[in-house]
Amino acid sequence: MSAAMLPDPADGALQPAWPIIPVMPQLAPGWTLDHMTARDLQEVARIEQRAYSHPWTRGNFENSLKAGHGGLTLRDPSNTLVGYAMLMPVVDEMHLLNITVDPDRQRQGLGRLLLAIALATTHRGNLHTMLLEVRPSNLGALALYLEAGFVEIGRRKGYYPATALGREDALVLRRMWPSETGGVPA
Ligand SMILES: CC(C)(COP(=O)(O)OP(=O)(O)OC[C@H]1O[C@@H](n2cnc3c(N)ncnc32)[C@H](O)[C@@H]1OP(=O)(O)O)[C@@H](O)C(=O)NCCC(=O)NCCS
Repeated sequence: MSAAMLPDPADGALQPAWPIIPVMPQLAPGWTLDHMTARDLQEVARIEQRAYSHPWTRGNFENSLKAGHGGLTLRDPSNTLVGYAMLMPVVDEMHLLNITVDPDRQRQGLGRLLLAIALATTHRGNLHTMLLEVRPSNLGALALYLEAGFVEIGRRKGYYPATALGREDALVLRRMWPSETGGVPA
């Protein structure tokens, strides 16, 4: 995948623009977007462990890649992995299985950037629907998804593993957009 160009989020130049039809953002010089491979998994797992109460294991990522799911990695100019996303196409929909920014790099616009990249990647794959699940207690992620145009379409009872409050429901969110030729997905 060729590196896209986007203003450096750290310098405040990133605009929270969410066009109806996703557009691939541009990265600032030195930032790189790439497909996730087995070589990334040590760094991915290290971030994952610190970012979630119930993280994916390295094996989960390996299996996901082996199953043909698309992994995206975002690296800063020092080649440090700052975030990643996992995408699973199912018939005519893309499922966002995982989107994570290194906890030390959160609230700098990188989650917004990764989500925009994931949406644009989906659009480039000629799919026009993205689905995801999120914990209702994950207010930061929820705010990001709603800002990006996702709407709640359902709730899966007790979907997530136990927290101090017991098992937690998942909100199912969806974003749809028309194809370039104007057709709205059914
Ligand atoms: C969710 C996540 C990817 C967001 O990444 P991020 O780089 O911190 O997000 P951004 O800086 O791009 O934030 C974009 C917007 O999302 C919202 N947001 C993100 N984190 C937030 C938080 N902790 N609290 C409130 N709002 C938040 C804000 O509206 C923010 O805009 P603002 O900073 O201009 O106010 C990141 O917090 C993360 O990796 N969390 C752990 C893994 C996770 O929960 N993934 C989602 C699973 S469904």
